[in-house]
Amino acid sequence: PVNVSKICCIGAGYVGGPTCAVIALKCPHITVTIVDLNQARIDAWNSPDFKLPIYEPGLVEVVKQARGRNLFFSSDVDRGIQEADLIFVSVNTPTKKSGVGAGFAADLNYVELATRRIAAVAHSSKIVVEKSTVPCRTAESMRTILEANSRPGCRFDILSNPEFLAEGTAIKDLFAPDRVLIGSLQTPEGRDACAALTAVYANWVPTEKILTVGLWSSELSKLAANAMLAQRISSINALSAICEATGANIDEVAHAVGFDSRIGPKFLRASVGFGGSCFQKDILNLVYLAESLHLPQVAAYWRTVVDMNEHQKSRFSKTVVDTLFNTITGKHIAVLGFAFKADTGDTRESPAISLVRDFLSERAYVTIYDPQVEESQIWLDLAEACPLVPLETIKKQVTIAPSALDACKNKEAIVIATEWKEFKEIDWSSVYTHMNKPAFVFDGRMIVDADALRAIGFKVKVIGRGERV
Ligand code: NAD
Ligand code: UDX
Repeated sequence: PVNVSKICCIGAGYVGGPTCAVIALKCPHITVTIVDLNQARIDAWNSPDFKLPIYEPGLVEVVKQARGRNLFFSSDVDRGIQEADLIFVSVNTPTKKSGVGAGFAADLNYVELATRRIAAVAHSSKIVVEKSTVPCRTAESMRTILEANSRPGCRFDILSNPEFLAEGTAIKDLFAPDRVLIGSLQTPEGRDACAALTAVYANWVPTEKILTVGLWSSELSKLAANAMLAQRISSINALSAICEATGANIDEVAHAVGFDSRIGPKFLRASVGFGGSCFQKDILNLVYLAESLHLPQVAAYWRTVVDMNEHQKSRFSKTVVDTLFNTITGKHIAVLGFAFKADTGDTRESPAISLVRDFLSERAYVTIYDPQVEESQIWLDLAEACPLVPLETIKKQVTIAPSALDACKNKEAIVIATEWKEFKEIDWSSVYTHMNKPAFVFDGRMIVDADALRAIGFKVKVIGRGERV
């Protein structure tokens, strides 16, 4: 197999950045260059004071060690491609907004453009690794494009190597992955390419955790893993509705159920709904795949995982309105957390966006606080969520606060949308004295000590708990 000494990664986003930074850290003998068309993003990766474009615990330390040694960030995509033996394609694959499959299918335009660029500028053979999450058989399309456009003497071997990191724990996940999955054609050349990439990961991942499979299995496994993870959350959230109606406690139910070693305790936390750039997109992708394969029942089955998530978000908004005496018009609500989960500044598909949109449509005033999300991002998200409302109007109803305490002052209710650690350590007595009474807390993340808050005087509703406020 090829001895990989130069790696290029196309796409310096949430996946390409951390993944290839860790490869550089763990493989000092390999030169890793991460390229992107977005100059501002590259400048941020190169910033002298390490103000990186994404927030991820532990990432700065990795970049500090490797940047300038064997890790480079550049907007010179062509040069990155030309110099590399192995190229990761880690560009975005969002849900299509228009055309065939709109709302379901993955938009493969960025993958195709990156692939065409590789074919156009490469003058030596390359291993091309599909890192982006893509529908089954995308690797075949990439191979066709590369072979049809390559220069004589250049050969391209395609691998699928989906990424399983979760945001907020990306560095931990990359240092000690549950598994690394590599899909290849089962030809001698395919197996050689697979061995070359295996050797890269083997610098820090135990070889028994490096799984090698066929290309299509690899592509489908990524969609399957995300669909099954999201399905667990929708299942527990569906049960949380029953708990609220009966007086059972979802924490106790999850604990009891998760003790069954066949089910296991992880990923059973009821919430206001799952968010993030992957779950919904990848399930809809699977739904689209099933439909294209004339498997409508299979498509409908997976569709319900997303439907249940939508239901959970609107059910939570409705609980807030119902509890606040059936109207929140003109009332002041603090929303704590805007990111889709703790320890990230990412807001893609964040349930907080849906909640704020619902509160605005009831004509409430909303104050948002999040420790990592940029103000400009909040305005972008709200403008996109309320396309018929001018941003000026939104800005009359929404303010952004510099701290949780500021956000809660003079409000009727607090809604916890993200499980940031600092929200567990709020001085609730002091918050209480500054709120309008009765003061309500709606915990969409099961992080507060409801009894302690009630003792202070708060009316408390926690997702998945049946007690009266
Ligand atoms: P992202 O939007 O953060 O990053 C993608 C980057 O690719 C952008 O900076 C964009 O400018 C760049 N890009 C697009 N086309 C390009 C081109 N032709 N040449 C050079 N650069 C180009 O996306 P992400 O969150 O890193 O996700 C990337 C892929 O990984 C997606 O397919 C996603 O489904 C998958 N994935 C994401 C996660 C996650 O947690 N975010 C986890 C696993 C897999
Ligand atoms: C997910 C997958 O976990 C990861 O393997 C894949 O590579 C990308 O998609 P990510 O979206 O970054 O990762 O975060 P994850 O921890 O999976 O959380 C997704 C959403 O589910 C978040 O909104 C989170 O708050 C929510 N969640 C998670 C729950 O509501 N309950 C849980 O028990 C777990």
